[in-house]
Amino acid sequence: MKNLEERVKSVIRDVQDFPKPGILFKDITPILLYPDLLQDMITEMANQFEGIQIDAVAGIESRGYLFGVLLAQKLQVPFIMIRKEGKLPAKTIKESYDLEYGSATIEVHEDAIKTGSNVLIHDDLLATGGTAIAAANLIKQKANVAGFSFVIDLTFLEGSKKLKEIKPIVKSLIT
Ligand code: PRP
Ligand code: MG
Repeated sequence: MKNLEERVKSVIRDVQDFPKPGILFKDITPILLYPDLLQDMITEMANQFEGIQIDAVAGIESRGYLFGVLLAQKLQVPFIMIRKEGKLPAKTIKESYDLEYGSATIEVHEDAIKTGSNVLIHDDLLATGGTAIAAANLIKQKANVAGFSFVIDLTFLEGSKKLKEIKPIVKSLIT
């Protein structure tokens, strides 16, 4: 019986030269074809935060929704959608951040976040950390960051070092 890390790694697909030449893309979509694996992943991801106060899980559009909502359900807490700008209909709070070229803005419904609550930030993948840092700054406008959860951490980019300065609880299923 293979351990969970090996099972996850065996279904993640490497796609060469996507979206640009020279980039090796880690495609997580095959995970969704295996419900038993998905269930075991969510159980393990929930276990990683045992003993830590989590009042909600905030998932980052779009791939952060796939596992984030399941993680929130497993933890029996609300799920908060962090979206790219211009998609959420009601009153939002926003956070802008720099990209390699230009900048981007993410937002969240103001009434989705309880003032002073402890929010776990989830995304499928940690690369440079830019997206997760922006999400943390967004959450911090109203609440506290309980920690960070990822399926994959591309450790050679050292994103977790930056996140640990915000909150030292940074977990991933595979590296
Ligand atoms: C990818 C990934 C993370 C982010 C990680 O999302 O899903 O959200 O990049 O990169 P960073 O750590 O360098 O910020 P992408 O922007 O490709 O969008 P998607 O989730 O909607 O596919
Ligand atoms: Mg993403």
